[in-house]
Amino acid sequence: MTEFDAAQLDWQAQYKLMIGTITPRPIALVTTLGKSGPNAAPFSFFNAIGSDPAMLMFSVGDKESGAKDTVANIRECPEFVVHIVSDAIKDKMNVCAIDYPRGTNEIAEAGFTALPSKKVRPPYIAEAPVALECRLTQMLELGRKPYHLVIGEVVYFHYHDGIVNEKFHVDVGRINPIGRLAGKGGYTRITDRFEMPRIKYGGPGSGD
Ligand SMILES: Cc1cc2nc3c(=O)[nH]c(=O)nc-3n(C[C@H](O)[C@H](O)[C@H](O)COP(=O)(O)O)c2cc1C
Repeated sequence: MTEFDAAQLDWQAQYKLMIGTITPRPIALVTTLGKSGPNAAPFSFFNAIGSDPAMLMFSVGDKESGAKDTVANIRECPEFVVHIVSDAIKDKMNVCAIDYPRGTNEIAEAGFTALPSKKVRPPYIAEAPVALECRLTQMLELGRKPYHLVIGEVVYFHYHDGIVNEKFHVDVGRINPIGRLAGKGGYTRITDRFEMPRIKYGGPGSGD
């Protein structure tokens, strides 16, 4: 066994272990709106956390100079739009991850098309296969680095045509998301899928 006592590790070592271990991670491309305009940035500390109401989370670390624009904007306007990063938009997503000065509109820098959202003020990105308009439920400050855990309620769902059927089944192949692995440029596609039906014991499962 290779073992580590977390108390003996600095934050960089723990960061490398976390991003190398918890994989693949879905990627949220998040648009926000602050006094200095709209912003877009990707976050892979991201997941679904509830369904009534639909809720999701992503987690944003501070940079050396303080809060990232996404967090600063959410403090100014507690709404955001989460887009699923597909293979088709990965290069533009990567542009949005550049550490531009505050006030830069990464949506425009990346060549994305911004459209007005239905229920929130930040715009959504037309090219993303899925856009989830969210209102902030809670932002928790975590740890020493620190991280800002953003929890949001989905208030409006946008899908490109052909992804969701009338029974609300989502065709993940048509979303074609990419996942984040560790390292400077590690990603994965969903091109090696398989099915494994759940085994029933007594009653239905409580979730995945
Ligand atoms: C695929 C990918 C995933 C990322 N995930 C995170 C993350 O989960 N948390 C984080 O703080 N930064 C993450 N980053 C870095 C941010 O996207 C980057 O710091 C960005 O410039 C922040 O933008 P902002 O200052 O406009 O909010 C990720 C970058 C990439 C390319």
